[in-house]
Amino acid sequence: MTTGAPLAGRAQTSAESRPKSVQGEGAAFPDGFSWGVATSAFQIEGAVKEDGRGASIWDSYAHTPGKIRNGDNADVANDHYHRYKDDVRLMQDIGVKTYRFSIAWPRIFPNGVGQPNPKGLDFYRRLVDALLEAGIEPFPTLYHWDLPQALQDKGGWQSRDTAKAFADYAGYIAGQLSDRVKRFFTINEFFSFVDIGHRGVDVMVGGKKVRIEHAPGLKLSNAKLNQVRHNAVLAQGLSVQAIRANAKAGTKCGPADNLSTAVPAIETPENIKAAEIATREMNAGYLTVMLEGKYTDAYLAAAGKAAPKFTEEELKIISSPVDFIGINLYRPSVYVVGSERTPGFRSISFNKSHPRMLSLWHLLGPEVMYWAPRQVQALWKTKEIYITENGCAASDELSAEGVVDDSDRIMFLRNHLAHLRRATAEGVPIKGYFHWSLMDNFEWSDGFTNRFGLVHVDFKTLKRTAKLSAAYFREAIARNAVV
Ligand code: FCB
Repeated sequence: MTTGAPLAGRAQTSAESRPKSVQGEGAAFPDGFSWGVATSAFQIEGAVKEDGRGASIWDSYAHTPGKIRNGDNADVANDHYHRYKDDVRLMQDIGVKTYRFSIAWPRIFPNGVGQPNPKGLDFYRRLVDALLEAGIEPFPTLYHWDLPQALQDKGGWQSRDTAKAFADYAGYIAGQLSDRVKRFFTINEFFSFVDIGHRGVDVMVGGKKVRIEHAPGLKLSNAKLNQVRHNAVLAQGLSVQAIRANAKAGTKCGPADNLSTAVPAIETPENIKAAEIATREMNAGYLTVMLEGKYTDAYLAAAGKAAPKFTEEELKIISSPVDFIGINLYRPSVYVVGSERTPGFRSISFNKSHPRMLSLWHLLGPEVMYWAPRQVQALWKTKEIYITENGCAASDELSAEGVVDDSDRIMFLRNHLAHLRRATAEGVPIKGYFHWSLMDNFEWSDGFTNRFGLVHVDFKTLKRTAKLSAAYFREAIARNAVV
């Protein structure tokens, strides 16, 4: 491991010994705020055929010609499976307190169901032990999109059986790991694997449409897509019940969803209300039904004959109480103003010149970090909120001197943290923040082109080099403040 940016020494932890922010008390986060980084199994592990791991839908998809930019695949990725100890050291250098990683379902159940694979579980035990030894709290996610291919062959998320299989896997992991893991995230980003994976979406970039697709790369009808959404939230509820039934007492869990967020274009009481209504409706098939136990009238009316088929009993399962809500925040979905007409808001289209980060979908709107948690609390009275992902890709290159000066990522981070701090200062119960990502990795259909890491990875040599943003983040952690 090389650290291009000055990272020597551990971050200070106690409130008394902590250096204050040069921006003053006004920039501080609450005491006990937890700072972390996030990754996911498929994007970093590699070793796809080792120790009995089964294939996932992303293995199949990545090996389908034309699906991934430059024909990249994740067979080796960051080789984290073999280098996890070095990667834990990288985290220690940055001073993080928590690490959100995901467990690969096909390492544990190579066929999705049946006999567990002890070697797969052993890897996560070793990782968790290394983290605990380093003083970093492990925060695993149970599903970050790598569905076992064997389950896809039996219908994947179109089948209700997959929801049941997920719950069995979640219960098994909770039983095995809750002696050392206290908090689990269940499912990552419903919209991303359901809608983008089973239909694909078009996003507007500078006035032009750009198509985004994910594994398994299907193009389902409305009725079928709505049923997949329903099966996914059912999996959420069933897994919560399975975790409660199998984990040690006191184990906590909740989803990590990419809440679609409406931001008031101008802060007036009417627009703030309008944005709340819009956020609740935009998430009707996901967080809203999970937290309210019913689909909104507008959602069912808009779906018409294609509405999902469900029972009252299923709605109860879907809304099984969770301990916290994780939200992945990258950008506002829309800016809105109030309107006299139903549904009570008017969406503003993004100007063609609206600034964005490197990823085509990534329009810039740091205010989302204030509005999203505030709305989650206002709408659903959530007691604990985690920002489970936030970050940006940048065109990072190692200079001849071996450093990466990622000015845009630092700008992005500083502005997003400032808006987040506004929410914590107003008492919104945000417990922690995970930066996406610890290190550059396999960015799905963008392959290795879009680098999201605080740490640069040379994908030929796999050498890790901390970027300047890692030094920024370390400083924010050490001071528990915007810096
Ligand atoms: C999120 C995903 C994560 C990563 C970031 C950039 O949608 O959860 O795996 O790819 O985007």
